[in-house]
Amino acid sequence: MDSLKDCYTLYNGVKIPCVGLGTYLTDDGETCVNAVRAAIEAGYRHIDTAVAYGNEASVGKAIRECGVPREEIFVTSKLRNVNQGYEETKAAFEVTMEQLGLDYIDMYLVHWPIARGHKLDWKEHSYQTWRAFEELYEAGRIRAIGVSNFLTYHLEPLMERAKIMPMVNQLELHPGYHQDEIVAFCKEKGIVLEAWSPMMQGKQMQNPLLIEIGEKYGKSAAQVCVRWSLQKGFLPLPKSVNPERIRQNADVFDFVLTDEDVAKIDTLKSVGRLGPHPDTIYPD
Ligand SMILES: NC(=O)c1ccc[n+]([C@@H]2O[C@H](COP(=O)([O-])OP(=O)(O)OC[C@H]3O[C@@H](n4cnc5c(N)ncnc54)[C@H](OP(=O)(O)O)[C@@H]3O)[C@@H](O)[C@H]2O)c1
Repeated sequence: MDSLKDCYTLYNGVKIPCVGLGTYLTDDGETCVNAVRAAIEAGYRHIDTAVAYGNEASVGKAIRECGVPREEIFVTSKLRNVNQGYEETKAAFEVTMEQLGLDYIDMYLVHWPIARGHKLDWKEHSYQTWRAFEELYEAGRIRAIGVSNFLTYHLEPLMERAKIMPMVNQLELHPGYHQDEIVAFCKEKGIVLEAWSPMMQGKQMQNPLLIEIGEKYGKSAAQVCVRWSLQKGFLPLPKSVNPERIRQNADVFDFVLTDEDVAKIDTLKSVGRLGPHPDTIYPD
């Protein structure tokens, strides 16, 4: 990947720009509109939102008003966990479209594998959700469909019954958390891996190893994390509401981490997971 406009290609041929702006904890309203606008001005062509973030309306507004043709921007949203189920998904999708104010979205993801109240029948429940995803995809409402936070044992039963295989799995992936098993599974099945919290939620930006490696290339710890993600074959979704950081986080195409530096960064594995385990019943 040589620039923000370079893309991964999903198995259905749809191209997805290799870095996306994350918008979790980005307040709805001016903050979100300004962040998305700053990202698009900096060259980002991929925005990641979710119903659970409460900012679809602002993401949609920024995209509608940015002056870049709609088809040049890749927009992802995610089904809220409480809205899983066949009918519920169809209804929730219409609300998402209304909030975004767009004619179509590029990708829709099942946000979480197990919904509240479905600890025992989550396999059936998630399949019913997926059936709705397949129908929305076949109707041309969405260009790509996928999942988020699905581990191998969540994906396998879904894929056994699915007519259309998930194209993407969005997972917590960063220098502190590698998820080798599900990463290998997705790579083998041709499922593109998106990395959430690629900069470890900003919590390791003073880490001496990341700073030392960054200094070699004239880059910050955050840029080292985003670059590491790309070199692992992931699609990082760095979040910021600060225009300078938004630009900085995407200024990662003029250096390549050596294999030796990647191996050193891999030792940060000990940091571990920052978000909840996917089997946790997520309230949203
Ligand atoms: N599917 C899921 O379940 C899931 C879960 C979590 C996240 N996500 C997606 O992934 C995106 C990214 O994850 P994330 O937001 O958790 O974490 P992240 O992108 O790893 O880190 C964001 C944090 O780092 C700070 N930051 C940004 N750029 C920085 C820089 N250059 N130097 C120092 N600090 C910096 C941000 O603060 P400022 O904003 O103040 O700059 C914010 O506090 C989300 O926004 C969301 O779109 C998905």
